[in-house]
Amino acid sequence: MTDDGYDFFAPQPRPVPRAKNTMFDLVPDAFTAKTLELTGEHRRGKRLPQNKNSEPEVASPRPSPSVPVQESFDKDVVTDVEAEKWEGSAQSRLLIKGGKIVNDDQSIHADIYIEDGVIKQIGNNLVIPGGARTIEAQGKLIIPGGIDTHTHMQLPFMGTFAVDDFYSGTKAALAGGTTMIMDFVLDQKGVPLLDAYDKWRNWADSKVCCDYALHVAVTHWSDSVAKEMEVLTKERGVNSFKMFLAYKDVFMLDDSDLYSSFKRCKELGALAMVHAENGHLIAQKSKEMIELGITGPEAHEMCRPEEVEAEATNRAIMLANEACCPLYIVHVMSKSAADMVTRARRKGCVVFGEPIAASLGTDGTHQWNKCWRHAAGHVMGPPLRPDPSTPGYLMDLLANGDLQTTGTDNCTFNADQKALGKDDFRKIPNGVNGVEDRMSVIWEKGVHSGKMDPCRFVAVTSTNAAKLFNIYPQKGRIAVGSDADIVIWDPKATRTISAKTHHQAVDFNIFEGMVVHGVPVFVISNGHVVVDEGQMRVTQGQGRFIATPCYAEAVYGRIESREVVIQFSVYGTIESREVARRPKKVEREVYEGPIAEVKTNSIETAPPRHRNENTNIIMGDDMSADFHSRPPTRSGGRNQQDSSFSFSGDQIDDNQPRRHKIRVSNPPGGKSSNLW
Ligand code: URP
Ligand code: ZN
Ligand code: ZN
Repeated sequence: MTDDGYDFFAPQPRPVPRAKNTMFDLVPDAFTAKTLELTGEHRRGKRLPQNKNSEPEVASPRPSPSVPVQESFDKDVVTDVEAEKWEGSAQSRLLIKGGKIVNDDQSIHADIYIEDGVIKQIGNNLVIPGGARTIEAQGKLIIPGGIDTHTHMQLPFMGTFAVDDFYSGTKAALAGGTTMIMDFVLDQKGVPLLDAYDKWRNWADSKVCCDYALHVAVTHWSDSVAKEMEVLTKERGVNSFKMFLAYKDVFMLDDSDLYSSFKRCKELGALAMVHAENGHLIAQKSKEMIELGITGPEAHEMCRPEEVEAEATNRAIMLANEACCPLYIVHVMSKSAADMVTRARRKGCVVFGEPIAASLGTDGTHQWNKCWRHAAGHVMGPPLRPDPSTPGYLMDLLANGDLQTTGTDNCTFNADQKALGKDDFRKIPNGVNGVEDRMSVIWEKGVHSGKMDPCRFVAVTSTNAAKLFNIYPQKGRIAVGSDADIVIWDPKATRTISAKTHHQAVDFNIFEGMVVHGVPVFVISNGHVVVDEGQMRVTQGQGRFIATPCYAEAVYGRIESREVVIQFSVYGTIESREVARRPKKVEREVYEGPIAEVKTNSIETAPPRHRNENTNIIMGDDMSADFHSRPPTRSGGRNQQDSSFSFSGDQIDDNQPRRHKIRVSNPPGGKSSNLW
């Protein structure tokens, strides 16, 4: 437990297999009787080496063999799909006819031919091999499958595990039109990053129904972490690292370690990501809430108001900018934090912002709900904001290019898990759902409301993510050669979101009752029809790990150019801000005059924290031994090169009695009554 009462890594109970209405609960022996041999050879995906010594898997709600399942949306009828229908040659050939293809930059009416998981042809009157299945898409939009940039499947967190694991979480993703998730490797502070990475790969590889990639969290800093980051980028397919300004004593890095981690990301061509909240202040204010007797979920927001997020966002941007490192702000939850991103972008900083389904689709007033479970169901960090105009504001910024991608921070906990904090809000596991509903919520609040057009919808739900994480145009585009991750989207159909019908394992939905336009009628993942006119056919372990290479052009293109500009500027031909801020020394003659000596006779009267017994030199809090470290003058006076100022606010003469102020009625240069 941290000294401010939070308990992030208490002994973790293993997740309890859910006894929900699922395929394998309803069909006894489904695995043994109907297993298909879908081995690695069947996959085109890049599988990177895995650690053979990794931990055994946590209990999975489902066995791991690859099994095709067909599940109706209402889960009343559950049947298996015949083998040849699932994986046979006809199924690997698909023709989508009559729809309107929407990419981020244009829409066209054209047919699409898919074979072996890849888009092979786009056009009209295509000549295609026989035996292909035809899907009629008249009146529908054909969009790239969604990419959820931010999930935490089965995350061990706050004494428990997120209930949606890599199976139920990715199945739900597909149900909603998301064909790729990006999850976070987030282990306890001190665990080697490579071990943590292997653990996540082992959890995910056997369970994922759709493709996935990994970001890695850096929660402590050392030379070995810096080396591991290099291995992760060069050998393990990772190009993004998340650092925390919150979760004091658990995940939080201080400013100097943040700066070091940003510099390292820059060296490696990786994208630095931050969870931006001021962890110190949260720790203090949390204690204040408890002292005031406010122990319910509403205290969660009150001890981390939006300024706490905005300050940390601004600080992270400043530090990253000083490190010349591109920065990605995850889960932008407030207007003030979004304004920080917008302002920095206007000033030319390479910074990106990710609002999430929750911050775009609902608000934080629910934390004040009289029903404890309902209120706790909305607790996440940074919190949903009680200002009800927040979702619309964030959507406007997203629609107009100030924010770029959308994730969900999907990290779900059932009622009994949330109840760990029933008497103390600090123990409520932080996290909400979203992976299944992100696409529909953004369509409803963004496109249906008239704030963004379908092209922009595609940009913010897949294309921009694919570009920033360097997997474009394999993902995020409908083009010849791209992966056949495709959604046939009915913009006119509606559905009502509910925990009773969703595919997630969690027993609660923050969008409960919301009627949304925009329904994925067919979802195709790597060429497989996984949502087929409302019926689900997912295969555990069918998804692939997608390596994300460093130096994404959309991220580093500008950074590299800036460096080139710096080189050219040596000849004085190009001026730029980057050149101007490059540190330059002033050439000057050596000072040869007298040098004062440091006075040591005031040591007894200095406050104890300013005494250094070894050197007899007074020190400031933030300057350590460097403060007034120059030798005294020959006569014992203070070295005039030393500043009398310290960042702590302490002065060299703090221990000297103050002289009374002398008011000068008529100062030289005239009187001024103005404040300066
Ligand atoms: O509440 C949240 N966000 N839980 C997951 C951990 C994180 O900070 O993203
Ligand atoms: Zn976070
Ligand atoms: Zn998160």
